[in-house]
Amino acid sequence: MKTPTEAAAPSLPASSILTLVLGRGRFQKVGDSLSLRAGDPLELRCRGKVVHWRVPVYLEEEGKERLRIKRFSRHSQLQLVNSTGADTGEYSCWAQHCQDGEGAEGEACKGTTFIFFTDPEELFVPTEDYYKVVQLHSHQPVLLPCQVTNPLAHVTLHREFPPEEVPVDGIDISFDVKKGFTIHRPRASLAGALFCLASLGGLRQISTKYMLIYIKYPSSSPKPTIQASATSVQLGENFSVTCTALGEPDIAVDFIWEYPGQKVS
Ligand SMILES: *[C@@H]1O[C@H](CO)[C@@H](O)[C@H](O)[C@H]1NC(C)=O
Ligand SMILES: *[C@@H]1O[C@H](CO)[C@@H](O)[C@H](O)[C@H]1NC(C)=O
Repeated sequence: MKTPTEAAAPSLPASSILTLVLGRGRFQKVGDSLSLRAGDPLELRCRGKVVHWRVPVYLEEEGKERLRIKRFSRHSQLQLVNSTGADTGEYSCWAQHCQDGEGAEGEACKGTTFIFFTDPEELFVPTEDYYKVVQLHSHQPVLLPCQVTNPLAHVTLHREFPPEEVPVDGIDISFDVKKGFTIHRPRASLAGALFCLASLGGLRQISTKYMLIYIKYPSSSPKPTIQASATSVQLGENFSVTCTALGEPDIAVDFIWEYPGQKVS
């Protein structure tokens, strides 16, 4: 008998248009994610008449000669050879005209899966930069994109100096194996150099370093008010105009004046 927990568990879409080709005429449904070994070829098949594919950016830019897309009347096939850990990412396809009477707008017209290409020597998806500057805006979540090639890797977040682990509570900071760490509530104390540490088996590796720069933004812009010492003055008399900006402390305010005769003197 099914328990309520089982009934509520997420399941594969009834019929995704995206499948993994295992061999001649052998297909396997793809779930949310799947793991292949780096070096293995990848063959995906997407059902539909006019099919568009989306592959990870790295592959789009650097791996064109390893990637082949074949189009047939009722499906399209994506083939990738000599895969590497850097090919890890999201693979999706869209079909413009769905078969089997599936609605043109329906979810069934899109297939997406996240593929890990596990590399026993590279736990992190390689990036070009040794370090990356990340702006921490006070009111905006930010992603530290240390993406792993193996979903089984244990990943933690660390500060370089003083060396310490940064607590990840899932609320202020959370980890997603397909993305990296998201800082949901940036604060000044997080500024500095951070990196991710992945461990699997006996292997421990660190990611690109992230230089976090905290930028405080006021929650609302400063409110200016203007006041003149008199509403009318005789020619030759002195008068003053005072501009005041009210806002949060520690926010630098610039004043710019515009008035008649500005260009003259
Ligand atoms: C794949 O790797 C093999 C062996 O290193 C090489 O001969 C072949 O040219 C590569 N194919 C592509 C398309 O890069
Ligand atoms: C106007 O301002 C100037 C410069 O501050 C000052 O020398 C002068 O006495 C002022 N005139 C009057 C009428 O207040």
